[in-house]
Amino acid sequence: MKSVDAFRKRLRELGLAGANHPSPLLCDDEALPAPQSPLSRPVQFDGFRVGNRFCIHPMEGWDATPDGNPSEHTCRRWQRFGESRAKLIWGGEAVAVRHEGRANPNQLLAASHTKSGLARLREKLLTAHRDCYGSTDDLLVGLQLTHSGRFCRPNDRAKLEPRILYHHPILDRKFGLPSDWPVLTDGEIRSIIDDYVAAAELAADVGFQFVDLKHCHGYLGHEFLSAFTREGPYGGSFENRTRFLRETVEGIRAAVPSLALGVRISAFDVVPFRPDPESSVENAPGIGVPEDFSTCLPYHYAFGVSPDNPVEYDLTETFMLLQCLNDMGIRLVNVSCGSPYYNPHIQRPALFPPSDGYQPPEDPLVGVARQIAVTRRLKERFPNMILVGTGYTYLQEYLPHVAQHIVREGHVDFVGVGRMVLSYHDLPADILRGNAFDRKRICRTFSDCTTGPRRGLISGCYPLDAYYKASEEAKTLRSLKAKSTRNE
Ligand SMILES: Cc1cc2nc3c(=O)[nH]c(=O)nc-3n(C[C@H](O)[C@H](O)[C@H](O)COP(=O)(O)O)c2cc1C
Repeated sequence: MKSVDAFRKRLRELGLAGANHPSPLLCDDEALPAPQSPLSRPVQFDGFRVGNRFCIHPMEGWDATPDGNPSEHTCRRWQRFGESRAKLIWGGEAVAVRHEGRANPNQLLAASHTKSGLARLREKLLTAHRDCYGSTDDLLVGLQLTHSGRFCRPNDRAKLEPRILYHHPILDRKFGLPSDWPVLTDGEIRSIIDDYVAAAELAADVGFQFVDLKHCHGYLGHEFLSAFTREGPYGGSFENRTRFLRETVEGIRAAVPSLALGVRISAFDVVPFRPDPESSVENAPGIGVPEDFSTCLPYHYAFGVSPDNPVEYDLTETFMLLQCLNDMGIRLVNVSCGSPYYNPHIQRPALFPPSDGYQPPEDPLVGVARQIAVTRRLKERFPNMILVGTGYTYLQEYLPHVAQHIVREGHVDFVGVGRMVLSYHDLPADILRGNAFDRKRICRTFSDCTTGPRRGLISGCYPLDAYYKASEEAKTLRSLKAKSTRNE
């Protein structure tokens, strides 16, 4: 799309904007520089002053050392986050609270032997920011804490070692879990809570200002929210399904009262998707279709989903979750959705699917608009909360035009950027300086940052970042992709 008008026309064609639309996706005519841009306005809350409205989302690189310390690639990524000019760093990337909860054998770990490594990583980011912008006084940096639950691969990139809370009729089948696979006991859950508390203490000790208790993307925290069918204190009622969250918060507050808390949520979900074999063309995977859920109704296996029609979202419990966070004095919430493992088109709208994905079943702009509209509804209901929005990368050239409009209207507090900063890390700086866009670095959602790790490689922007483009991994990735195209 060559102009803002063409972009707006496309939004209207897709039914995402128009005269009587209840929640249209709107954008400004031009991206403004600081200080005119609403994106340059600081936010104050809970004793923090955050210098602008850009947030860097957490993004793993699958590139830590086997013992969970940062590698040179990890350090480079965090350094670039610091150079970006974004003033909110939401966690850097997911850091596992124990080895068995790692999503891959190269995920960062929070443990005594990684403490100085994590401190170094944070320091790299701060130094880079200070060198570029003079001060870090208005920079807020947190650490994302995670346990990967159903998607643990701690020892071998190709081998799932799931820690599940309940048996899921579709995900068990999809990921080959036998019906007698053990579920985590209540005692094991309590010891995981202890790990979160220890990791939070460590994060506070090395200077992180907040930790995110990750509740999104199908990982353990998120799975608690959908543990309708689990017996005992951590399953069934909404109160029980949020007990893990509440007990973790209580534990951290008792151990490190000064540490701020945030939560990244999957505000809504849909049933898992799969490629439709009927629609496979020219060796590409088919278009995404929902897995058969006809024998699973009412659907009690996802959070923020209509139980009678689980391809539609339902925010009833999402509102309850935000109320629960609000009641605990947690105002900082990063709003995401779905899972990259079973419905990536919802979570990371993209034109090109990852290698284990499917062709987009909708225009990716529909996915972007869905995330923006849901976040707006949450903000309207909880104006006091500080919300970070997700899913902006696919907007490409029009990211600043949309982001600026939404922030000005107060529909979100921070605009989170994910994939875009892997290819174009200083995009926030360019926007705020009023520089012309470096179009060659705009993420075109090729999904190689996801395909790489799915094929056992480190993550990064292979098509556009020279650092990865020139690497041995890039050659391996090209040949793996070529091979799989021939075989499929
Ligand atoms: C390579 C890669 C790694 C990611 N790692 C994490 C992670 O560690 N924690 C997390 O909450 N989200 C993670 N995400 C999701 C992003 O934070 C973000 O929600 C997603 O990319 C959508 O935002 P975007 O449209 O700006 O890319 C990851 C995404 C990518 C592409």
